Amino acid sequence: MPRLDPHSYNDSTQPETESLDWRARVDFRTRRLHAEVTLTLKEASAGPLDLDTRELDIRAVVDAQGKPLPFNLAPPEPILGSRLRIELPAGLRQLTVRYRTSPQASALQWLTPSQTAGGQHPFLFSQCQAIHARSVIPLQDTPRIRIRYTAALTIPKALKAVMAAGFVKREEPGVEAVEHYEMPQPIPPYLLAFAVGSLAPKELGPRSRVWAEPELLEDAASEFEDVDAMLRVAESLFGKYDWERFDLLTMPPSFPYGGMENPRLTFLTPTLLAGDKSLVNVVAHELAHSWTGNLVTNASAEHFWLNEGFTVFAERRILEALEGPELAALHAALGRRSLETAIEHFRAHPQLTALRTHLTGIDPDDVFSQIPYEKGYLMLCAMEAAAGRPAFDAYLRKYIDTFRFQALTTEDWVAFTERELPGVLGKVNAEAYLNQPGIPSGAPSPRSSRLEELQRLKGTVPSREEVKEWTPAEWQLFLEWLPTSTPRDTLRALDERFQFTKSRNSEVLLSWLLAALRVHYAPALERTEQFLGEVGRMKYLKPLYSLLHASKEYRPKARELFQKYGERYHPIARQGIEGILSRA
Ligand code: BES
Ligand code: ZN
Repeated sequence: MPRLDPHSYNDSTQPETESLDWRARVDFRTRRLHAEVTLTLKEASAGPLDLDTRELDIRAVVDAQGKPLPFNLAPPEPILGSRLRIELPAGLRQLTVRYRTSPQASALQWLTPSQTAGGQHPFLFSQCQAIHARSVIPLQDTPRIRIRYTAALTIPKALKAVMAAGFVKREEPGVEAVEHYEMPQPIPPYLLAFAVGSLAPKELGPRSRVWAEPELLEDAASEFEDVDAMLRVAESLFGKYDWERFDLLTMPPSFPYGGMENPRLTFLTPTLLAGDKSLVNVVAHELAHSWTGNLVTNASAEHFWLNEGFTVFAERRILEALEGPELAALHAALGRRSLETAIEHFRAHPQLTALRTHLTGIDPDDVFSQIPYEKGYLMLCAMEAAAGRPAFDAYLRKYIDTFRFQALTTEDWVAFTERELPGVLGKVNAEAYLNQPGIPSGAPSPRSSRLEELQRLKGTVPSREEVKEWTPAEWQLFLEWLPTSTPRDTLRALDERFQFTKSRNSEVLLSWLLAALRVHYAPALERTEQFLGEVGRMKYLKPLYSLLHASKEYRPKARELFQKYGERYHPIARQGIEGILSRA
């Protein structure tokens, strides 16, 4: 049984799914989806068909005539879930599974009205990357197999359902509404996505609108108003945009990521609403995935750097085109810093700091880090420098063109790159990035006059005059570069002058809280307590809980706060924090 993806029961000798037709009734009372899915195979087949499932209650499996098909649901494995094996009679092309999801489905978060901005209506959203689609739909949950789909979601009439797909129509037959969607471009299952809540749209441009709870809509629309310019710049760099629309969805605060590149409908954390567009690099990042990730897709979580490393590279190219090389260099320096922290974090597991990972028996959520992002970015920068920008740009275009709507492995990538940029992998010592731990010596480092100025002021309390042109990215770097020996009085002086504890910029605030908690600056603890109750983004929760947990004095506080707020966090975030709090 050749299993090519360590995170799927998919057997590559079995037939592949071509498309899905999914119908689900959203029941907020029981927190379940009552659903059925019809799978159409690429060709009429026979024999066993293995699907991935997690905590699904399978009611029936039938053929196109409604005749029951024999199936067996294996006991669950902790990471993979349960294999659903269906015996296909000869000549079968279509089958339907009737099932319901668990209230604990790992891809879903069900929010009570009090967890939303408006406070009046419940909210539901999905987050399927990396291997959670199987908790929503029984399917071949590997990015090697792309599917088209149609969907119909039955929801309370007062709510709106949005999907990362093309909208077809809304019907209101009775007390409920049915929203129909269609996804004509084939996608890997981890890009299946939807949300249900009190949502309203605002147009941003010919191909984009933003969705948000009405209370947040105006703020979201002004933060993201330049999205069309971004789209045009991205097209000029990477080729035509293939997904027709690029809409944005502002998520509730418990959304565990900064952004998720769901095709046609990027999901974004509300912590991006800083009021000054300073965090829109996350939008650039998710947009860039439209080429690197959504068109050209990693073959499994072991090749995740192909998605994220390329996308960070593309994100910074977009940023450079829109805001200039100085700002892009500041972001590269922030990335470098986060890479160093991540490598330090994995010092007991150095093999997880190579780009190409081996993840049999390992949950991708447990090893998520900045390494594939920033180490991948560094390697691509080194390659660009070695090849020269014009040649590297042509290579990027050809890469996208060659593998569009396909999945590839690191090994496929090496073979392609050897062909297209002969000698470059050797020149940058790609082996050290791909298969060895740590940061390769000779890795490129960003250079810019603003970075030099920051270096000069490192650890000081600068005058207002010296910082009057600083962007939030500079503040963040300044704070992250504060020597660990900086005395508490310096932090107090900085706070009095620059009001960090009151910052509206979530990135600056995080860097500040981490620096100030280290020296037990009391106002920072108070703000941290508040912040941990306001946000659910793992990028903020994990380092703050880690730092509190690592200090003898703060450890009880960490437990107390998690007791208090844990319920609000997304299941994936909760699992991550539980891991942190159970460390010795
Ligand atoms: N695809 C990721 C988010 C993700 C990765 C979800 C793995 C689940 C599993 C998304 O594109 C991402 O990288 N988001 C970053 C944005 C940042 C790098 C600009 C985030 O959430 O912080
Ligand atoms: Zn990404």
